[in-house]
Formats: sequence, structure tokens, C-alpha cells
Amino acid sequence: MKITQIRIGMDNFSYLVQCIATGKAALVDPGTNASEAMSLIGHGNLQLIFIINTHRHLDHVAENSRVRETYGCDIIASEPESYGISDVTRTVSDGEILMLGDVRIRFLLTPGHTPGGLCMLVDGEALLTGDTLFIGDCGRTDMAGGSDNEMFLSLQKIKSLPDAVIIYPGHDYGPVPFDTLGNQKKQNKTLLAKSANELSLIA
Ligand SMILES: [Fe+2]
Repeated sequence: MKITQIRIGMDNFSYLVQCIATGKAALVDPGTNASEAMSLIGHGNLQLIFIINTHRHLDHVAENSRVRETYGCDIIASEPESYGISDVTRTVSDGEILMLGDVRIRFLLTPGHTPGGLCMLVDGEALLTGDTLFIGDCGRTDMAGGSDNEMFLSLQKIKSLPDAVIIYPGHDYGPVPFDTLGNQKKQNKTLLAKSANELSLIA
């Protein structure tokens, strides 16, 4: 398994997840410019099977159509989030597992930033968190469909994962572009919050 973190514009992150053995790949959040990801797919002779959207915001989904037209791949989102993304072809639910060649992707439904935010646990080792969890912070809850209560519960769900899991966020808002969940459990104020009310005061 290989995960490539791709910076787009000022601070967005897109991710190319690939199965080394089979060359199958998934593009998580094509964002506003998928050119670098498409170049990596071409140079690596990869087969793009899925686009996965962590959530509906335009800075994560704008290039969905161009990538799908090029590769004919499915576009995956959670069922509640799919109403806000025009070109979703397949929905997934909490706990569902999808195989990408030999790579095991488990979906976690993590609402709070949007109603159907998704995180992806890849081979039990890496968690792609979209705008749910950033390094040192969590996503905004004051936009349409956001909720402090749901965000708090989603953060608890993430906290239940092992410390060794690497967190790969949807934006580069922290001092480092990725980190272990163990470090974030100690340092991220939003993971340290003990209630939704406390979270609403600091997030
Ligand atoms: Fe967002």
C-alpha cells in the first residue's frame, strides 16, 4: 500500500492510494486541480478504480467530473453526503469495507463538518480525515449542515483507533502535514475536549 499526499493550491490535500501488487488506485478528493494526481496515475501506469469524496465542499470535489470522464471510475461518498455531490455513482455506509486490490479501505461516517463526512482507514494504518480532523484542530462546524454534537462524537470515534495510525488531513493547517493519532491525542485541543460544549468553545 502506498499513499501519496498531493498539495493543491494554498492548503488543500488530495490523496492517491494505491495497491502496490495490482496497480489499482483510488483518488481521495480530486479537489480543484487533479492534474498532478492524473500525472502520477499515468506515470505509474495505475488503474484508477475509485474517486472517494470525504465531503461535498467544492474545494474537494471540483475535479470529480474530469477525472471520471478520463478513467470511467466510480465516484464514492456517504449516502447523506451524496445529495450534495452531483456526480456520485456509489454510496457507502459506516463500517463498510471496500477492497482496492489487496488494500483494505474501511469507511467511518464522521458527520460534524457536513452531515455525511467520511474518513477512510487504509489497511488499519492510515486515516484520511478530510475536514473532520486536522493536525491540531478539527473542521468548522458553523457551515451548512455542521454540528458541534456530531463533531464531538466523530472525534471520539477517531480517538478509539490505535495510536500508531497516521492522520492525513484534508488541509495543511498544522505545523506538520501529517502526524500519528497518538501525538494528536496528546496535542490536538479538539481531541482533548471532554464534551460537545467544550468543543464548541475551542473549535
Ligand atoms: Fe470542507
